[in-house]
Amino acid sequence: MKIGIFDSGLGGLFILKTLRQKLPKYDYLFLGDTKNLPYGNKSQEQIFRLTVKAIEYLFEQDCALVIVACNTASSQALRKIQQKWLPKSKFADRRVLGVIRPTVETVSSSKGIVGILGTNRTVDSRAYILEFKKINPRLKIVQQTAPLLAPMIEAGNLDKIDSVLGHYLAPLQKKGLNTLILGCTHYCVLDSKIKKIVGTKVKVISQDKLLPGKLKSYLGKHPEIESQLSKNGTMRLEVTKKGIWKVK
Ligand code: DGL
Repeated sequence: MKIGIFDSGLGGLFILKTLRQKLPKYDYLFLGDTKNLPYGNKSQEQIFRLTVKAIEYLFEQDCALVIVACNTASSQALRKIQQKWLPKSKFADRRVLGVIRPTVETVSSSKGIVGILGTNRTVDSRAYILEFKKINPRLKIVQQTAPLLAPMIEAGNLDKIDSVLGHYLAPLQKKGLNTLILGCTHYCVLDSKIKKIVGTKVKVISQDKLLPGKLKSYLGKHPEIESQLSKNGTMRLEVTKKGIWKVK
């Protein structure tokens, strides 16, 4: 059985890339819901329905485990999927993981002020704030929405992105950040641009760097899932809207 990776679009590919680098033996199936992106401005109900549809598809394609490599879907739909939908579905023995909990675990021992840059729906879900409250309630969390970034990244429009980034980062910088979480998987591609803007005193957390280690330790603790995974080192990419990416 395979590991499924799901995102609305390109963001999940950055996660897939580092998973394949660090955990190359597994077989991966990536699904990008390019027909419906961006998710960041959709309603909770829409995000839930689209995410369930994608997960069902990945399970039907023989995935034992699906990683929702999308902060927006993780923040708006994951809890309901894990607690209500999955146990009642015909896939009750499979697993669905998100990206927010592992990110919060990675950052939880930081000190000072943690900034979150994310889509509208990730920010207004307050999912990061709630997770940090459980693990380290002393940390001060500040959030900033960046609704234009994911659509610009999807359009390959990176030339003009610096000024947009500067605009979104300025309010966070004014608050005196110590750590900045790139709370949308699409922003992995902006890692070095963002580091340049915020400077070396701010630790920038990009989820493509932390998820392979987190998945490895999850699989180590869950032999019932790991033992079901096939190990041929393959990868398949699928999108819901054909012809918009040229991926070999
Ligand atoms: N990559 C997604 C995330 O991590 C969302 C981008 C979008 O579809 O708005 O939130």
